[in-house]
Parts: sequence; C-alpha cells; structure tokens
Amino acid sequence: MNLTTQLLDASDPQNIEKAAALLRQGEVAAIPTETVYGLAANALDERAVAKIFEVKGRPSDNPLIVHIAEVDELKELTSRLPDAALELARRFWPGPLTMVLPSSSIVPALTRAGLDSVGIRLPAHPVARKLIKAAGVPLAAPSANISGRPSPTSAAHCFEDLAGRVQVILDGGPCNIGVESTVVSLTDGAPRVLRPGAVTPEQIKAAAGSVVIDPVVYQKPDPDAPVASPGVKHTHYAPKAEVVVLHGNWESCKRFLAKQAGEGVWALVFEEELADCPLSALSLGPSGSDETQAMRLFALLRELDEKGARQVYARAPRQEGVGLAVYNRLIRAAGFRQLAVDREGL
Ligand code: TXA
Ligand code: MG
Repeated sequence: MNLTTQLLDASDPQNIEKAAALLRQGEVAAIPTETVYGLAANALDERAVAKIFEVKGRPSDNPLIVHIAEVDELKELTSRLPDAALELARRFWPGPLTMVLPSSSIVPALTRAGLDSVGIRLPAHPVARKLIKAAGVPLAAPSANISGRPSPTSAAHCFEDLAGRVQVILDGGPCNIGVESTVVSLTDGAPRVLRPGAVTPEQIKAAAGSVVIDPVVYQKPDPDAPVASPGVKHTHYAPKAEVVVLHGNWESCKRFLAKQAGEGVWALVFEEELADCPLSALSLGPSGSDETQAMRLFALLRELDEKGARQVYARAPRQEGVGLAVYNRLIRAAGFRQLAVDREGL
C-alpha cells in the first residue's frame, strides 16, 4: 500500500462529501467519533470491509462495530430486538455505547467475524453522523490504529499509523472521550459488559434493571475458553515499552519508584503526584477525574514511545465509573502485568 493520504478538515462540508463518496465507492476512510477515530467502510459490502482488515492488519476473527445514524436502522440489522436494547438506545444513543445483538442476514459474515451477533453503535460525533447519512449506508469502523497499537484520539495519531494506507483522514479535532465505546451484549440474559467505556455498568444497570461485568474486563482471558468478545483475546494498546500497573498508596509507590530509576524508565502518575515523583513522569490527570484520564491515556502511551521509554510504571486508576475503562485499557497495555507495591518486601 502506497497511497497519497489527505488530511481533510471536517468542518468543511465538501470534505465530508468527499469522504462519503469514497465510502460509497467501497473504499475506506479514517473518521472522527467522540470516543476514538474509526477506520470506516460500508458495513454491508464485504469487499469494502475486507479492506479494513487489510489496512489495519486486523485478525479476521475480531468482529467490527456497525455505526448507524438513526435508531430505526437497528431493525434491518438485527433479527431480534430485546426490550432492554430499545431502552438502552433511548438512554444512551447517540453516544459511546455499542450493543451486541442477534444479527440479521444482511450483515456480511466478515463484518461480524462469522458470529451470529453484530455490534451496533449510534455515535454522537456530528461529523460521524453526517458522514453516515451522506454515505447512505451503515459504516463498519474499528479504531483507526494499526492492530495492537494504542487507539487514535486525534487525526495526527491516525496519520502516524495509516499514512500511505488510506486516501483520506477526516480531521474532526481531538476526541473528547478518548477510550472506545462500552460494548454490552444483549444476546441472552442480563446485559453483559464485554468492554467498559464512558457508559458505565452502573448506568446500564439503572436503565436496564441488571448488568453483569464479564470477567475479561479484569483478567487475561483463558486461551482455551470460548470468549464472548473475540477482540479481548488480541494484544491491544501496547506501546513499545513494557508497562506495569502499580497497586498501592502513593507513599508505597514512591518508595518503589525511587528504586527503579534508570535510562528509559518512566512513570505515569496522577496530576497531584507529578511534582513529587522520583522518576521522569507524565500525568494521567487528576486522580479524581476519570474523564480526564480517559481522554489522555492513548495519547500518553504514544508519547512514551516518542520519549524512548522502555519501562513504564503506571498508577492503577480506580475501577469504578469511567475509571474502569481506563483501568481496563491500562492493564491490557501492560499485558496484564500488575504489582501490589504495599506488600511486604517491595
Ligand atoms: O468507540 C468505539 O467503539 C470505536 C469507534 C470507532 O466507534 N470502535 C472500536 O472498534 O473500538 P474496535 O473494532 O476497535 O473494537 C470493537 C470491539 C472488539 O473488542 C470486538 O471484539 C467487539 O467490539 N465486538 C464487535 N462485534 C462483536 C460481536 N458481535 N460480539 C462480541 N463482541 C463484538
Ligand atoms: Mg480497537
């Protein structure tokens, strides 16, 4: 792939039309959403969807999310619509929630990686919605990174990963959420959170009456067990450095960090700890602001690469609210390496 990649300003309606025309022709384009940038193609055109997998280097057993512009489009994409789905759509769409539902036959097998279900989301970003409408088809869009890299939260991140591989990156400015949508399965039983995001389990429970958090949110999936969301099996968000997530209070962390000083050793700490940190460090944001941490995380992982970090110790975000999404992405970036620093002997 050696294409000329154009970065187009999404505030110019002609550029949205240009991207929509490419999508109608069965091509891919990188587009802004409120969560992260997506690499979009016509979800109902198997040849177009194949290009997404090729451009990203994405394993073909990892299904894509189908993005729609109106709730009505749910009907033709699904074979059954549980009441809870309509309630969640009413409460959280447009927004950062993906619902996994029984698929209709119009969704190509490649889009859903051969599963009986399909992930559907109605994004809130005005550019994404205008583009879906202008393209006239639902858009499959995984995060617009090369597989395994941190998700892009700006057009510049997309350019880093996709220059030469796509014709158009539509620049809609930085993403204001910064972590990917909450993925909730409604295929059977209680709503099951497969990937935490800005719509929290607490909010889903309040809207749907119940919620289950799948163990893959906290743990490395058992390689032999069948998983509800194939995406969780694959390496994600990984910077070049080895990342370790530290559990414990700041005093214990500080003592531990002071012993790790060395070339290329960095820490990711909370804003209020930055001045006091014994290592070179970047700020995740205030410990009390999950939203700021979510917005910054992926850009920080990329920045650590630029700084040549080879070892990164990161403070564990709180595992509630949007913090659960930040924690989930961080432990995955760390390949599940975690350390309790207030244990005796450390
Ligand atoms: O915020 C987002 O969701 C972004 C933006 C672009 O909308 N998209 C995104 O897509 O994060 P992607 O492909 O990077 O992540 C999709 C996740 C994967 O973990 C995948 O396994 C899961 O959703 N998923 C999609 N369809 C599924 C299905 N039918 N059953 C279970 N999991 C599914
Ligand atoms: Mg992704």
